[in-house]
Amino acid sequence: QEREFWPAVVIGTGYGAAVTALRLGSAGIPTVMLEMGQLWNTPTSDGTIFSGMLSPDRRSMWFKKRTEAPLASFLWLDLANRNIDSYAGVLDRVHFGDMSVYVGRGVGGGSLVNGAMAVVPKRSYFTEILPEVDADEMYGTYYPRANAGLGVNHIDPDWFETCKSYQFARVSRKAAQKAGLTTTFVPSVYDFDYMRREEAGEVPRSALASEVIYGNNHGKRSLDKTYLAAALGTGNVTIQSLHEVRDIERQADGTYLLTVRQIDPEGSVVATKQIGTRHLFLGAGSLGSTELLVRARDTGKLPELGDEVGQGWGTNGNVMLGRANHIWDTTGSLESGMPALGIDAWNDPKYPVFAEIAPVPAGIETWASLYLAITRNPERGHFSYDAASDSARLNWDVAQGRPSIDAAKQLFDKINSAGKTIYRYDLFGDTRAFENRFTYHPLGGLVLGKATDLYGRVKGYPGLYVTDGSLIPGSTGVNPFVTITALAERNIERVLAEDLT
Ligand code: FDA
Repeated sequence: QEREFWPAVVIGTGYGAAVTALRLGSAGIPTVMLEMGQLWNTPTSDGTIFSGMLSPDRRSMWFKKRTEAPLASFLWLDLANRNIDSYAGVLDRVHFGDMSVYVGRGVGGGSLVNGAMAVVPKRSYFTEILPEVDADEMYGTYYPRANAGLGVNHIDPDWFETCKSYQFARVSRKAAQKAGLTTTFVPSVYDFDYMRREEAGEVPRSALASEVIYGNNHGKRSLDKTYLAAALGTGNVTIQSLHEVRDIERQADGTYLLTVRQIDPEGSVVATKQIGTRHLFLGAGSLGSTELLVRARDTGKLPELGDEVGQGWGTNGNVMLGRANHIWDTTGSLESGMPALGIDAWNDPKYPVFAEIAPVPAGIETWASLYLAITRNPERGHFSYDAASDSARLNWDVAQGRPSIDAAKQLFDKINSAGKTIYRYDLFGDTRAFENRFTYHPLGGLVLGKATDLYGRVKGYPGLYVTDGSLIPGSTGVNPFVTITALAERNIERVLAEDLT
C-alpha cells in the first residue's frame, strides 16, 4: 500500500476547497487536493468535453443508468431523461428518502454544473444567519475578494432587452411586474461577452445550446478556470482526481491519516492509498464533509467529535415550479441556459422569496415559465451514520418541505392572479405544481460556531478544518456559492495567520 505525507491536504475541489488551496499554495505550503470526480479537460471523439443537455451520454451523471433531470416530464411525457452507461459523470443526484440532493462531481465541484448565479445575500439576512461573523468585514473585504476571484460579471442591460435568448426572462419579468413585484439582474460567472458572441453566431454555443447541469463546454468561469488555475499556478498545489477519501483517523503524534480510494472512470478501484497530513481541510461539500465526520465519529476513528456534527442541514428553501404562459406570450425556442434575472420579494414580512427566473432549456417553445424559488424555510434536517451502508443518511421528511411551498405559492398565486395564468402540472413526473423533493443548495451539517469554532476549526481536533457549504446553517436567502467562497476566504486568512506560521 502506498503511503504519502503532505503538510496540508484539502478534500474536494469545490468553492471552499479551491479558495483554501489557493491561499495555502500562495503561502508556500505544499498542498494536495483529493477529488473523487474526474478532471474535465479532455474532449472526447465528438470534440466536446461535456455531453449536451438535449442528448446526454454517460458523461452527464455520476454512476447512473438513466439521467435524473429536475424537470422529469413535459406534458407528462418522460422526454427529458435518457438511458446512459454507468460512468464517473459530472452531476450526481444523491437520494435520501424524501429528499434528493444535486451535487457536482469533478475538479471544480458544483461550479461545473451550476447556473453560475453569483448573488450576495442581503446584509440584514446574513447577520441573521451568521450573527457571530463580522458583517463589516464580510461586506467590506471578503465578498469583494470572492467576486474578484470568481470572475463575476454583469449583463449589459441594453443587450438583455434585445437578445432572443432572454425573451423567456422578459416574459417572466412582465408577469412579475403586472403583480407589482420587482425583478433584479443577477451577477454571473458565465462570461456575458461570450454569450453575446454566441448569439451573434461568432463562437460555438454553450449557454445558447442549453448547456448547464451536465457541464458547459464554453463560456463559464468554473473554478478550474479561476481559483484552481491560480492555485496550481503557485507551484505548490497538486490535484489528484478520481480519489475519494473514505476515512479519517488521528495518529498519536496529532497528524491525520486518510484512507483514500482511487477509482478509474468506469468505477473499478485501482488503488487504496494512505495519506498523512498535519493540516486537513474538509471541502467535500455539505454532503461530503458531513459524511466524513459523521462516519469518523460513529466508527470511533475521531471519537471526540460532538453531537453538533451532522446537525443544522437545510435546503436553502428550494422549490421549483412552472407557470403556463398565454399562447401569445411566447418565449421562443432559444433560451440561454444561464439565468439573468430574479424576482426579489425577500422583503415580504411573512413569506420572503428570491425566485430565480430559470430557463427551460428544451430547444422548443414550451409556453412555460420556470422558477427556482429560494424561500425562508426554518426546518432543519440532520445526518446519522448507517453502519450497513457505511454512509451518512439524511433525516428529512416531506412535511419539512412544506414551508417552502407555502412561501412560493403565496408569491406565484399573486402573479397568476394578476396575469390570469395558471401553474404547470406536467413538469415533475406527476401532477404536482411545486417540486420540493430536491435541492440544488445543500447547506449545513457542520455549522460554524457549533461543530467548529468561528473560523471553521473542528472542535476537539487541532489541525482539522471545515471550509465549505456545510458551515452555513441551512439557508443563505440567495444562491449560495459567493457566500461559501467569501466565508472560506475569511476563515483561511485567520487560520494561515494563527495556525500555520
Ligand atoms: P461542492 O459541492 O462544490 O464541492 C465538493 C467537492 O468535493 C465535489 O467536487 C465532490 O465530488 C467532492 N467530494 C465529495 N466527497 C468527497 C470525498 N469523500 N473525497 C473526495 N472528494 C469528495 N449556487 C449558486 O450560488 N448559484 C447558482 O446558480 C447555482 N446553481 C446550481 C445548479 C445546480 C444544478 C447545482 C447542483 C448547484 C447549484 N448551485 C448554485 C449550488 C452550488 O453549486 C453549491 O452551493 C456549491 O458548489 C457548494 O460548494 P462547496 O464548496 O460546499 O462544495
